[in-house]
Amino acid sequence: MQAGSGIQIQGLSHAIGPRRILQGITLRLDAPRIGIIGRNGSGKSTLARLLAGLVAPSEGRVLIEGVDVCKDRRAAIATVGILFQNPEHQIIFPTVLEEICFGLRQMGRSKLEARDAAQATLARFGKSHWIDATTEALSQGQKHLLCMMAVTAMQPRWLILDEPFAGLDIPTRMQLTRHLESSGANILHISHDPRDLAGYGHVCWLDQGQIRAEDGPDLLAEFEAAMIREGAGDDLADLAG
Ligand SMILES: Nc1ncnc2c1ncn2[C@@H]1O[C@H](COP(=O)(O)OP(=O)(O)OP(=O)(O)O)[C@@H](O)[C@H]1O
Ligand SMILES: [Mg+2]
Repeated sequence: MQAGSGIQIQGLSHAIGPRRILQGITLRLDAPRIGIIGRNGSGKSTLARLLAGLVAPSEGRVLIEGVDVCKDRRAAIATVGILFQNPEHQIIFPTVLEEICFGLRQMGRSKLEARDAAQATLARFGKSHWIDATTEALSQGQKHLLCMMAVTAMQPRWLILDEPFAGLDIPTRMQLTRHLESSGANILHISHDPRDLAGYGHVCWLDQGQIRAEDGPDLLAEFEAAMIREGAGDDLADLAG
């Protein structure tokens, strides 16, 4: 791996109040498809926000293609985009056009350039007729698609996907996956479901805020076996927070 390429996570720890959510994570990730697997409450969404530079870590740093995503926000938004687990947490504008233009304007594009890029993105997804649609009136799957259009319009080199397909039906998942695959971005996909990460070049297992295992040909099978063992017990302590 070349210095400054891919994702470098260096001594990353994060606490919220007195609670340690992530602890001492150091990883060098440079495959075009990277998976992070972990069960509910293991810290996946917290890690996703840190990787996108949306939250300052308590300790350590994240470099993506050499950009410190927390410190250099302008470079970061051109380098890394994120799709949240819940599109309701991502969408902030009343219309589809405004939502797609927002990130482009943040990148320094003029109003006209942003509108052109938004229109081109809508056309690429066959959704030109959505341009003036009200975001609130979109279904859950449509909201996911809008978020995907907004983030891919910015053409980031990396996409962080935080369980982007939760609650979507099979055809929608398949279609959105194809769009993501063809976006040209490298993908870091976070999930609790090993099926989402089958065939990924590099997979890490996040467990209680720490990396429990990395790569290895049988990692997904080992994770699934461990989940079935844990599921056989009645202890909901991990979910209690
Ligand atoms: N803002 C917050 N304040 C306090 N605790 C938080 C906050 N955000 C997350 N946590 C705690 O951090 C832990 C990890 O949460 P996180 O959302 O990162 O997990 P996750 O792996 O994404 O879970 P899920 O699979 O359910 O989405 C949880 O125990 C959660 O309660
Ligand atoms: Mg989560």
